[in-house]
Amino acid sequence: MSSSVKTPVRPADLARGRAKFRSHRTSEFTESVIREMTRLALEHKAVNLAQGFPDFAAPEEIKRAAQQAIADDFNQYAITWGAKPFRDAIAAKYRKWYGIDYDPEREITVCCGATEGMIAALLAVTNPGDEVIIFEPYYENYGPDALLSGAQRKLVRLRPPDWTFDPDELRRAFTPKTKAIILNSPNNPTGKVFTRAELELIAGLCQEFDTLAITDEIYEHILYDGASHLPIATLPGMRERTVLVNSMSKTYSVTGWRVGFVLAAADLTDSIRKVHDFLTVGAAAPLQQAGVVALNLPDSYYEKLSVEYQKRRDLLLEYLGRAGFRCYRPSGAYYIMADIGGFGFADDVSFVRHLIKSPGVATVPGSSFYSDSNAGATLIRFCFCKKYETLREAGDRLRRI
Ligand SMILES: Cc1ncc(COP(=O)(O)O)c(C=O)c1O
Repeated sequence: MSSSVKTPVRPADLARGRAKFRSHRTSEFTESVIREMTRLALEHKAVNLAQGFPDFAAPEEIKRAAQQAIADDFNQYAITWGAKPFRDAIAAKYRKWYGIDYDPEREITVCCGATEGMIAALLAVTNPGDEVIIFEPYYENYGPDALLSGAQRKLVRLRPPDWTFDPDELRRAFTPKTKAIILNSPNNPTGKVFTRAELELIAGLCQEFDTLAITDEIYEHILYDGASHLPIATLPGMRERTVLVNSMSKTYSVTGWRVGFVLAAADLTDSIRKVHDFLTVGAAAPLQQAGVVALNLPDSYYEKLSVEYQKRRDLLLEYLGRAGFRCYRPSGAYYIMADIGGFGFADDVSFVRHLIKSPGVATVPGSSFYSDSNAGATLIRFCFCKKYETLREAGDRLRRI
């Protein structure tokens, strides 16, 4: 072997030389704040109420179904747009729950989580320069999703305490360039469940301005105090202009499975399937088989899901109230937005860092859900998809802020 003498490269030169390898597309991305908080939580052994994944077991019957599917050799690619039995189960579920029909052959695409569903939908329907309306505060992925697809974000504020929006502000956000509105209900991070009247207003604007609604409905079964979920696709005139994104992640407590699906009219599905095929080819085949079992769970499964989450919500609300937070009570999803104005910290980020290090509870700064970091500077988000013992531990620690 010949030896060679390496000339050291100065870091600055390296950085300059390598900048050309960073695409413009990614240069505006920042690290996901939520994942950063999870990392800090690990470092400081904090109780993690930051990232929205359950720390309890997934349902036994669907775990067994996944194991069985592997044993039965569902180990090669499924059909790109999803295994037929799974698409059939999705169609049957929508018929049963919402009385809406989707053709599994032409209108359903199985993908790698709602995350892929959303980016595939945006890449399929938007062109650079199109505008996409997003309610703010919003789930952080929608920002990069818009950037990757070249669409401009038009933000419309949801205002506490009820996270309502101003109908005039929403109307002003619609322009001839609007391609779609992204609608996440039940909503992360606010816990808002859009009312029928609000959905009708949005549906009316979509029709008036000839735009699509791209909906993220992954918390559809996590509802409190009698709230109910209404897919906007079921409203008159909206089926053909809705791209409905959903996933197994939250309903079945399997965020690591990465199985989601997109329901849309055949012409839209045609484009979405093309993007999906080249992005990922398909979602995990054995887990789609287990998905059939999951989607056929009895109604009691979904009732229990909401009842259990409502108990967790109430427990955390009690702990937070006791610790001095002013909380906005969620009607759905599994997050609580809390006001930190009373604690005297400069902003949400310094407060969150303090919480992780000293009492040892990880949360997410409110500003990470807003495009302008000053907005949300008095808010933080707690998630409660955790074991009761995890919540109790967080409650004990929060006494020591
Ligand atoms: C609103 C919302 N959409 C999508 C996702 C991600 O979904 P999936 O795991 O199906 O990719 C999350 C995860 O927290 C979320 O809160």
